[in-house]
Amino acid sequence: MKTLIINIKELLQVRDSSVLKVSGDEMAVLPTIKNAYLVIEDNLIADFGSMEDLPEDLNPEKCIDADGKMVLPSWCDSHTHIVYAGNREQEFVDRINGLTYEEIAHRGGGILNSALKLNETSEEEIYNQSKARLEEIIRLGTGAVEIKSGYGLTVDGELKILRVINQLSKEYPVTIKATFLGAHAFPLEYKNNRKGYIDLIINKMLPEIAENELATFIDVFCETGYFTVAETEQIMEAGIHFGLKPKIHVNQFHSIGGIQAGIKHNALSVDHLETMKPDDIEALKNTETMPVVLPSCSYFLGIPYAPAREMMANSLPVAVASDFNPGSTPSGNMNFVVSTACIKMKMTPEEAINAATINGAYAMGISKTLGSITIGKKANLIITKPVSSYYQLPYSFGSNLIESVIIEGKVIA
Ligand code: NIG
Ligand code: FE
Repeated sequence: MKTLIINIKELLQVRDSSVLKVSGDEMAVLPTIKNAYLVIEDNLIADFGSMEDLPEDLNPEKCIDADGKMVLPSWCDSHTHIVYAGNREQEFVDRINGLTYEEIAHRGGGILNSALKLNETSEEEIYNQSKARLEEIIRLGTGAVEIKSGYGLTVDGELKILRVINQLSKEYPVTIKATFLGAHAFPLEYKNNRKGYIDLIINKMLPEIAENELATFIDVFCETGYFTVAETEQIMEAGIHFGLKPKIHVNQFHSIGGIQAGIKHNALSVDHLETMKPDDIEALKNTETMPVVLPSCSYFLGIPYAPAREMMANSLPVAVASDFNPGSTPSGNMNFVVSTACIKMKMTPEEAINAATINGAYAMGISKTLGSITIGKKANLIITKPVSSYYQLPYSFGSNLIESVIIEGKVIA
């Protein structure tokens, strides 16, 4: 099947296959072709260029006229927790009335509240709730997504979530990467037996996950009141032993050495980064670890935004992701993430789009096949509504400027 898109007002994020991430000053550049065409063959990008050079003998089965519209790679959302049961809107109101996210967690709310709900809910029901969230984000332009476990905190619960993630991956054409986050919080019954829960993760959960190939990555919530740096290291090491690559939650509320631990264990990404010390930025220099920032989480919780500008000024790459989860970020809208990165973190549209596409793909280990307009990459694309320029995408925050979404070469929304 050959599809041709013609008269594209501007084709965004055109890259050579050698570019797997962009860092520092490179992030300010978004390579584009104005008045472009793009050819899709089966599920891949087969060719593209300027309309002036459009070959005459293409004979496509389908032709899409994108006059006045932008075409760009679909969003690569490298950090979500979309497999969960129910919501936590009561905690949202509690926070409006003055409690903090951390105070709610101390009362047994937060992650433990979601774990209670998840363990009471059938796998089928969790699948149904989660697929509605996945369908929503696909319509909003997400074409690749990482999904974490972490709301089970029991052997059965964690495996249940990972099976649901794998089922979603089979049923939907978007690229899905699964992350095991058994170390998201200590369950109440292990409050005074931290070692017992870590043993459960290492000796019961990880072997089953590895045997059934249920995850690619291992995550830990390294934070005061959650997992210490030493515990994080122990769990990462166990994950690595079972073939999983670390990709961890660090520096959301406190800078306690999680970044350095992640780098030491070759983490693919370190995520959150709202609280950064100069040493943390220094540690990330000249590493292969992608800093991932989550502007919608800062927006929803009213906590500081990660210092994306400072990181880029220090030659670091930055990826943006949604963090879609029931507690800190009940939204997976990557268009809003890109807008908020611009509005609140002062990233330019070019930087934010780079952060949400090629760098997001890198943070999932898939930037060889996704994240840019490159011959041979998957044809996962966004076609916008008519817009005056790509600046309008972050500028018109809250508006849906997506006209259609193509996943693996098929128009699906
Ligand atoms: O990434 N910070 C840790 N985990 C999630 C939120 C978990 C929750 O509140 O349910 C996050 O923000
Ligand atoms: Fe998260």
